[in-house]
Amino acid sequence: MVNNKVIGIVGSYRKDGVIDSVITEILANAAKKGAETEKIYLKDSQIEFCTNCRKCTQNEGLERGECIIKDDMESILDRIDSSNYLVIGAPVNFGNINALTQKFVERCVGYAYWPWGEIPKIRNKIKTKKAILVSASAAPAWMGRMLTRTIDSLKTLADLFGAKTIGVIWVGLVNKEQMQLSEKTIQKAKRLTEKLIAA
Ligand SMILES: Cc1cc2nc3c(=O)[nH]c(=O)nc-3n(C[C@H](O)[C@H](O)[C@H](O)COP(=O)(O)O)c2cc1C
Repeated sequence: MVNNKVIGIVGSYRKDGVIDSVITEILANAAKKGAETEKIYLKDSQIEFCTNCRKCTQNEGLERGECIIKDDMESILDRIDSSNYLVIGAPVNFGNINALTQKFVERCVGYAYWPWGEIPKIRNKIKTKKAILVSASAAPAWMGRMLTRTIDSLKTLADLFGAKTIGVIWVGLVNKEQMQLSEKTIQKAKRLTEKLIAA
């Protein structure tokens, strides 16, 4: 069952850091528009490493394959599956999403059908959800976007969840422990929230 819910997935290690602040802003905008919102901190969740057993990828069908590891992933993915709007954020670390977010991505392999000896296929290619992607870097935003694999990785995650990416917010030049979001970022968050939850 899909509802009018926005889930924010914070892959950053820093609560109240840049990624968290942008996601807070979007969720607050969405709440003002009447959407139900929830924020998930990957850092606070019990997420074990994928073991590459690939059991979750073996059975054919549209439904996400069941993982053998019993931790918080099943509940997180159930909540994502039953929402129609996603905000997914991770910082750039060494040219790609940080390790915590990558650990989460690997545990999403059950959204693919991948028998041994074949190439993986995303089970459900119909995009019924919408997603905003969020990242931040010490490098200027244009450089981070163009020269790192971050957006590709976040987009892969959105694709696995059956979400069409409708926009990206990237904060560059992160050079202070605490940074206020700029007016430009706040305005972009507002515009993209409207696009996200527009009928
Ligand atoms: C281990 C590590 C690796 C990083 N690698 C990069 C990088 O490759 N490129 C870059 O522009 N910034 C890099 N940064 C800076 C972070 O992307 C930046 O501080 C980001 O804003 C953190 O997001 P947050 O405020 O949500 O914690 C790195 C920071 C750390 C701690």
